[in-house]
Amino acid sequence: MDTTEDKEAKYNLLLKQVKSIIHKEPNFMANLCNIVSLLKKSFNFFWVGTYFVEKKDLVLGPFQGPPACSRIPKGKGVCGRSWEEEISFVVPDVNDFPGHISCNPQSKSEIVIPIKTKDDKIFMVLDIDSDKLDDLDQSDLLYLEKVATILQEIYPKNAQY
Ligand code: SME
Repeated sequence: MDTTEDKEAKYNLLLKQVKSIIHKEPNFMANLCNIVSLLKKSFNFFWVGTYFVEKKDLVLGPFQGPPACSRIPKGKGVCGRSWEEEISFVVPDVNDFPGHISCNPQSKSEIVIPIKTKDDKIFMVLDIDSDKLDDLDQSDLLYLEKVATILQEIYPKNAQY
């Protein structure tokens, strides 16, 4: 397990890399793909991915890791609740989260962060799963919310996804 300092150093490096990537490329999807890849590679998380709002569902977007559920209804699972309630969830043990959707039995803990447009409407959620119990905490949330803010800033105004 990383010490707090290791973790902060990794997140600070990741944020630098993200800023460098988005500085060079205007395409949101290309940038999102690279951000997901950086998160996966930097921390060796079990699964890092995104779900995009489509009518009353969340639909799978760019991800890294094993295949996952393609569609999650609003209010269902950690992701659907995060969208509906407009809050982030840090889940130390997925078995303790009522209604958790298990896309893969290896996922043990997870964190989900809703991401809003500049007009304050949730358009996607970022979902990170670990294969270890209690592997994600408030310090991860703090840094991942910085990533969420960057995604909010670069999301195009008239995007169709
Ligand atoms: N566990 C999530 C489903 C998505 S996967 O973890 C990739 C949930 O309960 O919403």
